[in-house]
Amino acid sequence: MLQIVLAIGLIGICIYWITSKRRSGEAVPRYRGLPFIGNLHQLNLQRPELTFTDWSKDLGAVFSVKFLSDEFVVLNTNAAIREALVTKRDTFAGRPQGAFRTGMITDGFQDITFCDPNPRWRFLRRTCQRSIKLSSDDSGNREMLGDMIAKMVNAFLEQKTSFNPRETIYRTTVGIIIKLLVNERCTADEDLVKAVVDYEKHVLSATMPTGKGFELDLFPWMRYFGIKSYKYMQYVVHLRDILWDELKKAELRGGTDAEDQGLVAALLRAQDEMNTANDVHLKLSDVHVKQAAIDMVVAGTGTTTLHMYAYFNIISNHPDIQDRLFREVDLIVGKHGTVSVNDRKVLPICFATTLELLRYANIGAIGLPHATLEATTIAGKKIAKGAQVLTNLWAVHHDEDFWEEPFEFRPDRFLDSVGRLIPASHPNRQRMLAFGAGARVCIGEFLATTRLFLVIASTAQKCQISPGDLRSSYDPRHYGHGMMLNPPDYEIKVKGRY
Ligand code: HEM
Repeated sequence: MLQIVLAIGLIGICIYWITSKRRSGEAVPRYRGLPFIGNLHQLNLQRPELTFTDWSKDLGAVFSVKFLSDEFVVLNTNAAIREALVTKRDTFAGRPQGAFRTGMITDGFQDITFCDPNPRWRFLRRTCQRSIKLSSDDSGNREMLGDMIAKMVNAFLEQKTSFNPRETIYRTTVGIIIKLLVNERCTADEDLVKAVVDYEKHVLSATMPTGKGFELDLFPWMRYFGIKSYKYMQYVVHLRDILWDELKKAELRGGTDAEDQGLVAALLRAQDEMNTANDVHLKLSDVHVKQAAIDMVVAGTGTTTLHMYAYFNIISNHPDIQDRLFREVDLIVGKHGTVSVNDRKVLPICFATTLELLRYANIGAIGLPHATLEATTIAGKKIAKGAQVLTNLWAVHHDEDFWEEPFEFRPDRFLDSVGRLIPASHPNRQRMLAFGAGARVCIGEFLATTRLFLVIASTAQKCQISPGDLRSSYDPRHYGHGMMLNPPDYEIKVKGRY
């Protein structure tokens, strides 16, 4: 009798143990690190996504990693990332707010990118998205866009010998962002261009998680000892404020017609409206408006420039793909026509090349960090409230079990068997996460994708591009790393097609 009671008791305990484990989830696995530094010594600090992708073969889709005092949960598969960003979008909508240097640049996380979700953040996102949409579509912009990208194409064609296109591409992207912020008349304003370039070039290196100055994130009290990295941060904050002054001056020079104005004017109008309304959660201070505008410069310039830069090295080494682009553009746009944003539907090879570029180069390989707003699970693993979460987008875009030869550049991945663009619901498009997904999805996705498309189609119309005297690998495994992946320097030769 006693044996039966013991056996029933044991079975009961086992059932309880199994079901409670299922309810609360399993612990997130992690490689054992060293005291104080954690897993820092085991990581490729230049390219952490490569180490994470490697570790996920052993640790699975979800694991954690410890850098000094910080622990991050890393998500490594399409299913795990989508479960977090889409299915549990509200839970994963937070941002970690521990980095002292980011706090300094954002006046205490009062921008769009690094603040936690709140009604003001939602409102600012919507306001910026409206201006981005206005700046990106064809209405009234056709000439301007054609002009800006035509200038880049002409600058390429003027080069009679082998050259590095990095600076020309960068200036074009800076022009696109200035046009978004303060309208087209200011894109040639020297002081404004200088202010954008000065700030953009410093801010990314100043806030690199593993770069110079990271001691301030670890020990913020070091700022009281006059250390160099703190003085540098103060200088970068000064550059940010110069940029904001230049943007406001340029905005005053813009037209009074709302259609004719840029995002800065839209933010200032929204500030007036909200500050006369009753909802205190939506009131916008000068800092909120400044930070939202500055976010566009930081988030929009480097990402777009580096994708375009990656593209010209790739395409110069793929004459077969160029020939297909030539044939498509010649047939639909012709020698003298202007490519338009709406041509995406009728230029499927150009648009598939854009999507393949975003997958292949994947300049924002780990996206931006998220933070959980409540305890939850991902792929059955327990994630605590307040956990810092990294999305390894690189692993999804280069997953060898899904993509055939992921390190081959093949626009055909986004075309069907008769050459039409595959729909957004297709599994290949569902694995395109270059802009993230869910609540914090990139607000510049449309602007960036259409600009890349216009550059690809417009250069195909006019230029034949071949490798130049300085050659370097276009394979993204060989890119360097800053805040984003950085393709190595190379040169191209450009010949006019007509
Ligand atoms: C090829 C170009 C670009 C790429 C690959 C890219 C990628 C990304 C990614 C991966 C995120 C993080 C998503 C997440 O948190 O999960 C992001 C956020 C963001 N991006 Fe982009 N981006 C690009 C261009 C732009 C442009 C042109 C703008 C604006 C003009 C922009 C504005 C932003 C902003 C404001 C956020 C933060 C959104 C939030 O936290 O609510 N991005 N982007």
